[in-house]
Amino acid sequence: MKTTINDRTIAYEERGQGPPMMLVHGFPTCAEVWQQQGAGLSSHYRVIMPDLRGFGGSDGLPGPTTMETFADDLAGLLDVLALDRVVLGGLSMGGYIALAFVRRHAARLCGLVLCDTRATPDTEEARANREVNAQLVEAKGASAIADKMIPNLLSASAPPQRQAYLRSLIERNHPVGIASALRGMGLRSDSTDILPTISVPTLIVVGEDDILSPPAEMWTLQQAIPGSRLVEIAGAGHISNLDQPEAFNTTLEAFLHDVYGSGS
Ligand code: MLT
Repeated sequence: MKTTINDRTIAYEERGQGPPMMLVHGFPTCAEVWQQQGAGLSSHYRVIMPDLRGFGGSDGLPGPTTMETFADDLAGLLDVLALDRVVLGGLSMGGYIALAFVRRHAARLCGLVLCDTRATPDTEEARANREVNAQLVEAKGASAIADKMIPNLLSASAPPQRQAYLRSLIERNHPVGIASALRGMGLRSDSTDILPTISVPTLIVVGEDDILSPPAEMWTLQQAIPGSRLVEIAGAGHISNLDQPEAFNTTLEAFLHDVYGSGS
């Protein structure tokens, strides 16, 4: 489905009926990365999976796309769907965006899921590397960023078919959208100050073999968010939902059951 939010076309997929959960993809994938969560959770929940602006079927623009802009698009999508509040989940860049959403739209949350992500901003070195990657993708296209990133995104034991599938998700994104998100991630602010203010139930998920946002870093995040819980997913790398969809879904479903109650 497509709608217009903040003057841009935003594509999203929606599955199931019931209490709502919005899942925000990481970089540089698109909503389809949540396909198995949509399939697994939609018997009890309304699962909303947007393509962030510049990804999948959503419009993009040159220039940095800030995490705040992405977060405002998500709030706009909730308006379109006439939803006051939602459980919001984000993986990696999706987690940066979820934290920007906490800062700007906290009243619209009834639960938060932070997967394979961090609250800290880029170091100077990481920010400089964003620009290198943005110029690479502008010059050579999405496949160049796929070549660079795929080895770090999945578990080392991921079969070639899973790697090929991930490549297909990355390569359908437009280089302009990818470059804009890279520059936006480089500009993102430090969200560590808002962690103690998070008052909704919060689940933190990390792939045991995540080398980009390793478990030790995720435990630090967990300790800063009052009452949060952390689950490590065995046999999963950075995109933990793609590596181990069943374990990921079981974890998410248990959390949603706690948030929404047994009527869900
Ligand atoms: C992601 O998976 O979204 C990226 O690894 C985030 C990042 O590059 O910081």
